[in-house]
Amino acid sequence: MQPEMLVSQNHLQSTRKNKSYLNYIYNEGLLNFRSYKSYVVITCLKGLAPFVRKEVEALGYHITSEWVTGIQLKASMADCIRLNLRLRCASQVLFEIAAFDANDIEHVSSMMKKIPWEDLIPSDGYVSVTNSARHDSINNTMFANQFVKDIICDRIKENTDNRPDAGPKQDYSVVNWVWINNQVSVFLDTSGNSLGKHGYRLFPGKAPLGEAVSAAIVYASEWDCSSTLLNPMCGSGTLAIEAAMIQSKRYPGLNRNNYAFMHFLGYQKGFYESELEEIRNIVDLQAKKCIIASDIDSEAIDIAMSNAEKAGVRHLISFGKGDFMQSPVPEAENGIVLFNPPYGERLGEAEDLKFLYASIGDFLKKRCKGYKAFVLSGNPDLMKFIGLQTFLKLQLYAGKIECKLHGFKMYAGKKNQDEVTINEES
Ligand SMILES: C[S@@+](CC[C@H](N)C(=O)[O-])C[C@H]1O[C@@H](n2cnc3c(N)ncnc32)[C@H](O)[C@@H]1O
Repeated sequence: MQPEMLVSQNHLQSTRKNKSYLNYIYNEGLLNFRSYKSYVVITCLKGLAPFVRKEVEALGYHITSEWVTGIQLKASMADCIRLNLRLRCASQVLFEIAAFDANDIEHVSSMMKKIPWEDLIPSDGYVSVTNSARHDSINNTMFANQFVKDIICDRIKENTDNRPDAGPKQDYSVVNWVWINNQVSVFLDTSGNSLGKHGYRLFPGKAPLGEAVSAAIVYASEWDCSSTLLNPMCGSGTLAIEAAMIQSKRYPGLNRNNYAFMHFLGYQKGFYESELEEIRNIVDLQAKKCIIASDIDSEAIDIAMSNAEKAGVRHLISFGKGDFMQSPVPEAENGIVLFNPPYGERLGEAEDLKFLYASIGDFLKKRCKGYKAFVLSGNPDLMKFIGLQTFLKLQLYAGKIECKLHGFKMYAGKKNQDEVTINEES
């Protein structure tokens, strides 16, 4: 399996000042894992880099470079642990251990052999190799990983008499390497399985949005975390759950107990545990219940409630089953509406959906005065049926589907009194 996105050429260029170097994190001893800083690349899905940047900057780090699928900074292994536990919009946190120029596979091989893998990967462990190599010499990704994996395992066997297991699972040590324009970077992938999964999705539902992109949508809405946030058409509840997690300062690390960083030599369990304790203490237990999520499909609501329970935010969301037109819309000064309607690719057919989109427009105009509304759709033709002026258009991806997040400001005025309360589940 590949990491979700490429490490870009920007990273490779900015890490070099016209010279090759090998950079071994453990040269200075294992205990320096808090102070020894290397280049760190944080990858993400296309479109999410500005959100990852904001998250990382909010933690006090300085970003040295940003591109469409990632950002770069200088940080220690300890920082990587902190970032893994806290980032909502990222995919992988990669810690660079070597960088060199190489024109051909023999050169890559000889440099890879110089890395002291036996100091990084337990000889009785398991290693997986991933790459985002784009070079003429590589026409088979599997081969590229196999060849690096053999170098790693052979060297460990030579130095320890033991050969680690290797394979595609990303639950243990993961090594990532990049080869673009004769430049190679080698990373410890400190995340392993993508950080884009936030650990609460027991059941996916029919056409779920990813957790990372949902968190980005909540950030893009600039919700103040105390006004009403409506999520009609909530499906499996991802947008509402991410909103509640952001509101109550619950970091994704609370729902995950395995990361690749735990499987490298020199891992300091005590540091991880203190970071975990810190994010437990940050949780805002006083957050008020102001998120309303609903869907016409009662099975979707059951799934959303189970997922919210698992995420620890069930108490912050009022779930209801019903048509979105019937959703309660409380008076709110800075209210937010988040819609992720079907758009004909995966659910329903575009022709049938024109009426649905026109109804969303009506609902926003008539019922949501004073609210800011955001609609994520992968179908620009259908979006025209909403019939409202956008103040924001942001390109995002729902899986592989290119989507746009459209923002609408609904001017305040006298609210209609024709509200009907949907069947409250609780
Ligand atoms: C694309 S899915 C939403 C996925 C959701 N964001 C998630 O992460 O699971 C669209 C949802 O709209 C719901 N839906 C369709 N028509 C509706 C209507 N008239 N009223 C309320 N919900 C509706 C569907 O049941 C479906 O769950």
